Amino acid sequence: NLNLSGTLRFASYYGDHMVLQKSPERAVLWGYGPEGAQVSVSLVGPTKQQASPVTVRKGIWRVSLDPVDAGGPYNVTAASVQSSAVTLKDILFGDVWLCGGQSNMYFKTSQIFNASEELALAAKYPHVRTFMVALKLSEAELTDLIKVERPWSVPTARGLANFSAVCWLFGRYMYENLKYPIGLVESCWGGTPVEAWSSSRALQRCGLESVTDSPQEENSVLWNAMIHPLVNMTLKGAIWYQGEANADYHQDKYNCSFPAMIDDWRMAFHQGSGSQTAEDFPFGFVQLSTYKKGSVDDGFPNIRWHQTADTGFVPNTRMRRTFMAVAMDLPDETSPYHTIHPRDKQDVAYRLTLGARAVAYNEKEVPFLGPFPNQILSTQIYVNVTYDQEVSVTPSKDIFEICCSAIRAPCGPKSLWVPAPIMQWNSTAVQLSASMCPPPADVAALRYAWRDWPCDFKACAIYSSSRILPAPPFIINRYSIKGKVWKSY
Ligand SMILES: *[C@@H]1O[C@H](CO)[C@@H](O)[C@H](O)[C@H]1NC(C)=O
Ligand SMILES: *[C@@H]1O[C@H](CO)[C@@H](O)[C@H](O)[C@H]1NC(C)=O
Ligand SMILES: *[C@@H]1O[C@H](CO)[C@@H](O)[C@H](O)[C@H]1NC(C)=O
Ligand SMILES: *[C@@H]1O[C@H](CO)[C@@H](O)[C@H](O)[C@H]1NC(C)=O
Ligand SMILES: *[C@@H]1O[C@H](CO)[C@@H](O)[C@H](O)[C@H]1NC(C)=O
Ligand SMILES: *[C@@H]1O[C@H](CO)[C@@H](O)[C@H](O)[C@H]1NC(C)=O
Repeated sequence: NLNLSGTLRFASYYGDHMVLQKSPERAVLWGYGPEGAQVSVSLVGPTKQQASPVTVRKGIWRVSLDPVDAGGPYNVTAASVQSSAVTLKDILFGDVWLCGGQSNMYFKTSQIFNASEELALAAKYPHVRTFMVALKLSEAELTDLIKVERPWSVPTARGLANFSAVCWLFGRYMYENLKYPIGLVESCWGGTPVEAWSSSRALQRCGLESVTDSPQEENSVLWNAMIHPLVNMTLKGAIWYQGEANADYHQDKYNCSFPAMIDDWRMAFHQGSGSQTAEDFPFGFVQLSTYKKGSVDDGFPNIRWHQTADTGFVPNTRMRRTFMAVAMDLPDETSPYHTIHPRDKQDVAYRLTLGARAVAYNEKEVPFLGPFPNQILSTQIYVNVTYDQEVSVTPSKDIFEICCSAIRAPCGPKSLWVPAPIMQWNSTAVQLSASMCPPPADVAALRYAWRDWPCDFKACAIYSSSRILPAPPFIINRYSIKGKVWKSY
């Protein structure tokens, strides 16, 4: 911002080739100019628009355009008599999605399986535009970005190589479906916990604001520098891939910190855009994939569960208008980028797209939820699990586990868990053996895929009948207030 404060210009994240949010929302534009100057913003393209002049106050001007339908290209000009005009060229109107999280969101398109084929497709999608925020942190909430990593660009194989694969693939698949421009804003950083991306307001709600353990200095620093500056831009929604860094850091708080961050982002973007970004804008995320094969550490299963506010599925009453891509069945044992970074991002992005179509675009008849139990029947000999949809079953001796207890109390991680092999199944239910529960103990809880690495690639036990959607992991206690699905026989 040095020495430019008096010059008429746009904020850092407005530029040539960008996508602005289409109607019915109004795109918000802002920038800097000589104090007191009158700034007029005009739009020239398939339609024309001249916004009423606004005054530069404290060095900043801001306008909301009238709603513009999807399409383009447009030129957007900011002009004032006190300064030379500035024009942004080749602007499209479409849906703008923000992509956040840690290294699996940062994971580059050049690193995925079939990367060269994917990059070769870039030129076919000139209406999917990308923007990348530079990695910066700040102790205080900033108005504008410190640095732009890559300005708005028309995709090329070279340019996309370093862009987020999940973000790009999500945008490209959504474009295939919507057939109008998509703007993708990548703002993510490897190895970062949710606390770094959360405002102090959000952290306070979960008792995380004044904790004394290190690395507390990370609190809010990326929210401040890499997200807050964007709140004044109008968005359609956000996607998020994060949680690995919380598997061993405030893990037990993630069921609060993650939903609280979503609520807080929604509030901040709604306010910052003058109510243009929806106050419940759609928020999609990837449930953690896998890390260590054979590990019995329950960090990943717990985070996966906490990602759903301890319900197993989204949307739910705590997390409205959210959608989730289950990814625990997409391990990559030979990833050259470490097993924590699986290279199949195509399936991750595709599953996100299904959720976005159903939740963000209200498309009916798009299946986006994997099978979930709606009834559990147990005796001392077997447990019958009935699903809410037709299932495709591959028998497994140990992907289901039961907790055996002589007392009628909820089970925890330290309780006695034993495998419950799948004995029989039909199109909507599986029958599990309870024979490994030593009498007089009885089945007190059931869990599915409760392991860091529950199965080989696309080989978990339960899928939707089409085999596209994996059943998400769950833990259900028979003796808990939520245990209404459980029937004793
Ligand atoms: C991609 O990133 C690598 C390493 O960070 C860098 O060396 C390379 O120049 C970048 N490529 C492009 C096209 O920006
Ligand atoms: C979050 O998870 C922890 C650890 O499992 C649990 O003690 C707590 O009750 C949960 N909180 C909420 C709000 O669900
Ligand atoms: C962005 O929005 C916030 C919250 O409404 C507001 O305080 C701030 O002045 C806005 N900044 C600009 C540059 O419009
Ligand atoms: C990579 O391409 C091959 C050949 O087209 C295909 O079978 C495979 O599914 C692709 N992999 C991914 C992850 O999309
Ligand atoms: C449990 O499932 C098995 C096999 O599908 C079936 O024979 C049995 O009747 C079921 N039990 C109950 C109580 O539904
Ligand atoms: C499948 O098995 C369950 C439990 O045994 C039973 O209630 C249900 O009727 C069966 N469904 C079909 C389609 O056979």
